[in-house]
Amino acid sequence: MEFTDAKTLLETNGQGHVLAFWDKLNADEQTALLEQIATLDFAAIARMQGILKDAGTPAAAAGAFEPAPVEVPEGDALQACVAKGEELLAAGKVAALLVAGGQGSRLGYEGPKGAYPIGPITDRSLFWFHARKILGLNRTYKTRVPFYIMTSDTNDAATRAHFEENDYFGLPREDVFFFVQGMWPALTTDGKIILDKPGHIFMSPDGHGGMLAALDRSGALEDMAKRGIEQVFFFQVDNPMVAIADPSFVGIHAAKGADMTLKVCKKRDAHEGMGVVVIRDGHYAMVEYSELSDEQMERTNADGSLWLAYGSPAIHMFSYAFLKSEAERAMPLHLAFKKIAMVNEAGEIVKPEKPNGYKFEKFIFDVIPNAKTLACLDFDREQEFSPVKNAEGNDSPATTKRDLQKKWRAWLEAAGVTVPADTLIEIDPAYALDAAQLKAKGLQIG
Ligand code: UTP
Repeated sequence: MEFTDAKTLLETNGQGHVLAFWDKLNADEQTALLEQIATLDFAAIARMQGILKDAGTPAAAAGAFEPAPVEVPEGDALQACVAKGEELLAAGKVAALLVAGGQGSRLGYEGPKGAYPIGPITDRSLFWFHARKILGLNRTYKTRVPFYIMTSDTNDAATRAHFEENDYFGLPREDVFFFVQGMWPALTTDGKIILDKPGHIFMSPDGHGGMLAALDRSGALEDMAKRGIEQVFFFQVDNPMVAIADPSFVGIHAAKGADMTLKVCKKRDAHEGMGVVVIRDGHYAMVEYSELSDEQMERTNADGSLWLAYGSPAIHMFSYAFLKSEAERAMPLHLAFKKIAMVNEAGEIVKPEKPNGYKFEKFIFDVIPNAKTLACLDFDREQEFSPVKNAEGNDSPATTKRDLQKKWRAWLEAAGVTVPADTLIEIDPAYALDAAQLKAKGLQIG
């Protein structure tokens, strides 16, 4: 892009200030700024400005809703679904899709969150556990499950390097597909693009919902189509307990012909920070934790159980067809008022003491109301969910390692092996994906 084109484009869109320091920039900075301007999506910026009008007013109440029904899979019907899931896995029709573009700010770890060392004995990374589960699926079903990983500009290179250094954890390289989510600018309260340096626009990731557009843009959807993928297992980077594309989940989702199926689990307590799946205006929807009142969170049924008993840990199945159709649709934008260092009129960088700018994000669960068929399945969180979100306290490395130990100990005990209380355990998922596989190894005691 040439300077004159950039100037016209910015001025037409009321953003001429982006070039305010042009004459003070060196040639490299000028080139980089023009490159950044070329990536700006002014239609999206206009949408952001539109929703800024309502910003600052209290968050819209979630409105009237009912908790969504939750199924507990069991019995013969479940067994038939497991067989269906196994068949799809063996036929190479299932993919794994991981969103790992987040900033991981609560954990405060330098580097991609997926490279965080979580193995209680080996310090192996979150990515290691995910990749070895996929390797375990490949071995169990004599198949190749392609692994699509969304990164962001801030962690893409480091994520790829982590896979390289670890020889892709044993996965075929051609089955690992990295794609980068979008970035877009933040806006001041009056809708202006923020410069964080005189020659640089402040950009932030477009949220995990940016996955849909990024899947399309990167060719990942096309790659899935070429491979004949029909069902896609979606998960987040922070949960090493996740059962990736387990045949029961794949099979139940496929047997229902669902656009989307969500695993949900009993909340730890009324205030656990999880979104809840509801039915509102005749459609399924996710209500975020922040949209719920204390009264809604604490309300109980006649038997004393929580009215909103189940939360979503963001473990989903999507049909390929639904993902593809949703990738063509514009998603709603959510905004967050944040402190963003920005240059003032004199070109000095100022760190604000109060929030001064809006960041925008898309959330993947906003596709839920568009699903024609959707189901929520109850699962056992002790087996499958313990995320690393915070540096300390709940959902921290310490609690995740504790929960991994508990689960693996139970697996070993079920296999007839008793492990002394103070012994650390770590099981490679490529060796055993679950308790039954571990038992089938016929472990000897001692
Ligand atoms: P979280 O909402 O937990 O955010 O992301 P985070 O960035 O990991 O951590 P904090 O909030 O800064 O502490 C849930 C999942 O969505 C992915 C994350 O990588 C994680 O797997 N994500 C989030 C993206 O891929 N892109 C985003 O823009 C945001």
